[in-house]
Amino acid sequence: MEKRVYIRTYGCQMNERESESLAAMLGDSGYEMVGEEESADIILLNTCSVREQAEAKAIGKSNLISRGKNREKLVGIIGCMAQNLADILPKKSPNTRLIVGPDRIEKVPEYLDQLLRDSNRRIIDTEMGAIDPHFAAARDEKKVKTSMFVSIMRGCNMGCAYCIVPKTRGPERYRPMEEIVDEIRWLAERGTKEVTLLGQIVNNYGTHRLPYVNGKSPFVQLLEKIQQIGGIRRIRFLSPHPKGFRSDLIDAYQNLPKLCPQVHLPLQSGSDAVLRTMKRPYGGEQFLAIVAALREKIPTIGLSTDIIVGFPGEMETDFEKTCDFFDKVKFDMAFIFKYSARPGTAAERLGDPIPREVKEVRNQILLEKVERYSRRYNELAVGKVKKVLVESWAKRGQRRLEGFSPERKKVIFAGTEDLIGRTVDVLIESCTTATLFGKMI
Ligand code: 5AD
Ligand code: SF4
Repeated sequence: MEKRVYIRTYGCQMNERESESLAAMLGDSGYEMVGEEESADIILLNTCSVREQAEAKAIGKSNLISRGKNREKLVGIIGCMAQNLADILPKKSPNTRLIVGPDRIEKVPEYLDQLLRDSNRRIIDTEMGAIDPHFAAARDEKKVKTSMFVSIMRGCNMGCAYCIVPKTRGPERYRPMEEIVDEIRWLAERGTKEVTLLGQIVNNYGTHRLPYVNGKSPFVQLLEKIQQIGGIRRIRFLSPHPKGFRSDLIDAYQNLPKLCPQVHLPLQSGSDAVLRTMKRPYGGEQFLAIVAALREKIPTIGLSTDIIVGFPGEMETDFEKTCDFFDKVKFDMAFIFKYSARPGTAAERLGDPIPREVKEVRNQILLEKVERYSRRYNELAVGKVKKVLVESWAKRGQRRLEGFSPERKKVIFAGTEDLIGRTVDVLIESCTTATLFGKMI
């Protein structure tokens, strides 16, 4: 069998980054990475378990690819769903020969070698352990771009009642600060201008492992170190938790010029009662205080969030509180999720009592709000000049470039290829809900 591999990635940015690392490691082990499944001999699905639908989609896909003319291909399921469903996947997806959880992805090249030698074998590995430093930093030098993800930790200790992540990704473990800084230096030397630090709860970075220094948390110390790296112009992170979003982090938005004026801060619900059942350790007031403190420092800061509708026990009055909260904060972007009960989570015993239609109505109401406030936020930028970090050609439209404002709003404007990787001034002339359009000045 040839060794052409296609990786299909589902789920979050963490998965995207891990697929990237795996591709680099496979390349070093003599595998050839291809961009579409038709020409691949080996297909790996890097999967997500956060909602039932995500799992159903990946299982359907794995069965589809192991049928018909694709029968000869070696199929592997890796990532969160491999961890979550390791026991039943061999039955649900009988042709899948490799099942590897997110903590052991670094072993995939070795396992594929073994499977290619012995076509009767199936390998399942859902062990958890220390972060493999080689895997965490693995990259294909040819794939380094203007904006890159950098993983700073693994796992989650929060225990939100609805969430499968502690089960699939295990407890928090942190990469050493020097390793992260070295990796970002390496990227900067190869042209990266923006890094987005990834972790389930980034502001927990180093908790109980690294000391506070001058009242600053390990996470803020890490941001300060990255601020010093020449060539890096922008720093972002995904996602912080409202608990532990303290004044040292809020001050960092003022003290660290490279830290972009943008936060994705998951709220989940605007009702304190629902937050309590969700085991989210904060209330609406606390969240509002963070927003107020951030806006006092940077009035135009971009603020986005995640909301779950239809969590067990969410009454109409609770949902109204979420709506009111939205109207108060006016998030400029939000992901709205319909609750999906996950086996093995604390909320499983609450069932899934809210009817699908009710979730759908709540979802729609919030989506309309998201649209209204996104548009309003973008309209405020029209007539203003934005510093745009240019990332690539725009997907549609000739000779048009795509970049991002400091608030991470997409900006499209006419320009030339040499501008990719540079920061330019763009006068914003018009907008849609999702995009700003302008001309370079
Ligand atoms: N059902 C629906 N949405 C969920 N999320 C996490 N778990 C669930 C679930 N069981 C959402 C949360 C989280 C985002 C990544 O996914 O809003 O912030
Ligand atoms: Fe990412 Fe969570 Fe999905 Fe795992 S379950 S891939 S951590 S979103």
